[in-house]
Amino acid sequence: MDIKEARKHFPILQDPAYIYFDNAATSQRPSQVINAVKGFYENCNANPLRGLYEWSIKATEAYEDARGRVAAHFGIEDEGELIFVRNATEALNLVAYSYGMDNVGEGDEVVVSIMEHHSNILPWQMVCEKKGAILKYLECDDEGVISDRELEEKITSRTKIVAMGQVSNVLGVSNPVKKAAGLVHAHGGVIVVDGAQGAPHKLTDVKALDADFYAFSGHKMLGPMGIGGLYGRRELLEEMQPFLRGGEMIEYVTRQSATYAELPHKFEAGTVNASDAAGLSAAVDFLDGIGFAAIEEQELKITKILLERMGRMDHVHVYGSSDPAKHSGIVTFNIDGCHPHDVASVLDGEHIAVRAGHHCAQPLMEFMQEKFSMEYRATARASVYFYNTEEEAERFCDVLSKVRGWLGYGA
Ligand code: ALA
Repeated sequence: MDIKEARKHFPILQDPAYIYFDNAATSQRPSQVINAVKGFYENCNANPLRGLYEWSIKATEAYEDARGRVAAHFGIEDEGELIFVRNATEALNLVAYSYGMDNVGEGDEVVVSIMEHHSNILPWQMVCEKKGAILKYLECDDEGVISDRELEEKITSRTKIVAMGQVSNVLGVSNPVKKAAGLVHAHGGVIVVDGAQGAPHKLTDVKALDADFYAFSGHKMLGPMGIGGLYGRRELLEEMQPFLRGGEMIEYVTRQSATYAELPHKFEAGTVNASDAAGLSAAVDFLDGIGFAAIEEQELKITKILLERMGRMDHVHVYGSSDPAKHSGIVTFNIDGCHPHDVASVLDGEHIAVRAGHHCAQPLMEFMQEKFSMEYRATARASVYFYNTEEEAERFCDVLSKVRGWLGYGA
């Protein structure tokens, strides 16, 4: 599908008055995804994996077909290695509880990067606190780059887990996941990759990435809210205890004990989210139909305009790399004297949606505040996706150049 054609499929994007630049928080959805969810309820709604009648069998097929489609997208051949969860946060918590709690001990180390989303920090804080382990941070330079030296110094024989975002939700920088994976594997540990910001923008093969676990959210990649995935290497998943216990994740249950279902169902307790899985499958079809080369090219065109024009604005500070190709469509910034919440509110008055605040990455905000002498421990963030246009980027910059003046600080 042609990239310009693609936008026509998004009902919410048809009003040209609105500019949606908050794609890192959640993407919009095309009709194909909305209709796939609707189609599930209209044509085959019943509880999947349980009923022996036609509708339930169709519901099960829709669910498992979706798993096959999504697994293929991520290069996962063994469908038992793809667990459907609510979102990346749930996936990361699953790994922390079911792997971390049994494989991290006193004095061991868990290594995360300074730019992790709280979803990839808090579960590891919990593991380290409960097990007497040490949580270590990989620091980055001014552009968000983690050096080889930093990786080699922090990932050691004491490291049991490295937890790293594929792409930072604040700086847009891609992290050295493969390099970190090689190092932690050499020391007998595992790497957990938070793909929430990577999967929407890059064609990702979890095996090529060398990930032991890979978490992603459907809602950031055109899918419905409430469905996401966890890839895990079979040998690891087989050894792990279930995260949640209840319906359909069992083999046999006696009064005092239980044995568990085969993968992936061991990790999918309760009625599954089959309708949204069907939506996620349609989302992946849509993305692959456009192709990630075209997606990245369009994001780059827009990011170039933003970095170039914002770079020329007095009082506007953009964070991260000076190379637009290293932003994954994310442009985080501040305006001298203006609180980012005020900036976002003024932009909203012009029908432009951006996110402002700490972006669920407070340790990074603290680091940035010190490094860049930021007035507030917060930033504004414009984040684009392939359906955004160059015209939107120009209009955004036209408006942004006036915001400081409108807030009473002069141009
Ligand atoms: N993690 C999402 C963001 O970065 C919500 O906005």
